[in-house]
Amino acid sequence: MQLKDVAVLITGGGSGLGAATARAMAAKGAKVSVIDQNKDNAEKVAAEVKGVAINADVTSEEQIQAGIEKAEAAHGVARVLVNCAGIGGSMRIVSKDGSIYPLERFARIINVNLIGTFNVLRLFAGRLVPTPPDGEERGVIINTASVAAYEGQIGQIAYSASKGGVVGLTLPAARDLAQHKIRVNTIAPGLFLTPLLMGLSEEARKSLGAQVPHPARLGAADEYGALAVHIVENAMLNGETIRLDGAIRMAPR
Ligand SMILES: NC(=O)c1ccc[n+]([C@@H]2O[C@H](COP(=O)([O-])OP(=O)(O)OC[C@H]3O[C@@H](n4cnc5c(N)ncnc54)[C@H](O)[C@@H]3O)[C@@H](O)[C@H]2O)c1
Repeated sequence: MQLKDVAVLITGGGSGLGAATARAMAAKGAKVSVIDQNKDNAEKVAAEVKGVAINADVTSEEQIQAGIEKAEAAHGVARVLVNCAGIGGSMRIVSKDGSIYPLERFARIINVNLIGTFNVLRLFAGRLVPTPPDGEERGVIINTASVAAYEGQIGQIAYSASKGGVVGLTLPAARDLAQHKIRVNTIAPGLFLTPLLMGLSEEARKSLGAQVPHPARLGAADEYGALAVHIVENAMLNGETIRLDGAIRMAPR
């Protein structure tokens, strides 16, 4: 599917990988709606790409439904969804001081990263299915997992479980939506330089980058954006999770 004049929804579009995808897709002529719970960032990126800002939490049915309607009023029914919203968080099951991982904390990470992804995916698909296809395709969904889905480090139990869930839903979602000509793929990034890592010192960033076999550096957000664009444009990519990681395999810590 070509992106020119196509309406696109990007969750987490106010920052990092989502913002880079908003820029990359807008450069291809897409009409972009930036969905983010951070209102200021959503507005900033939307203004930059001449798109629409939607202040919504991916875990809320009402907010996402309203957001999809707002985007549709401006751009028509969206054919592309990129799920980038996500949160991290690190804690051991039993910490050194003996405290046990709080269940609410685990549930919060699963709720945003996994259930939030599914929430937006299902509401997006629900709106798109009744719309006629554009040639052999009706739409494309791209989710964001992480290499932590495969090599979760110490402290990443909730994050890894949430991203493993995103990898796990990719094939059944693609199979389920195949009859509607909607493709579903997931990108599993390695270490990318986004606001998440920008807070680290230059030295810490270099040391993290040096763990990547080749190229031995942190990924740039626009490299993620470029892959997201390619996934939309390449009709044979479906039901797959693509690692984008310079061959890194994370160590236990
Ligand atoms: N940066 C990396 O190295 C890396 C590696 C692997 C996976 N990822 C994944 O990529 C995605 C994007 O990460 P990033 O590095 O760009 O992070 P980021 O923090 O820069 O951006 C994430 C965005 O999601 C938004 N968000 C968070 N919770 C939300 C919610 N409930 N509803 C709506 N918006 C919400 C935030 O406001 C933020 O703008 C995440 O899913 C992350 O887990 C990132």
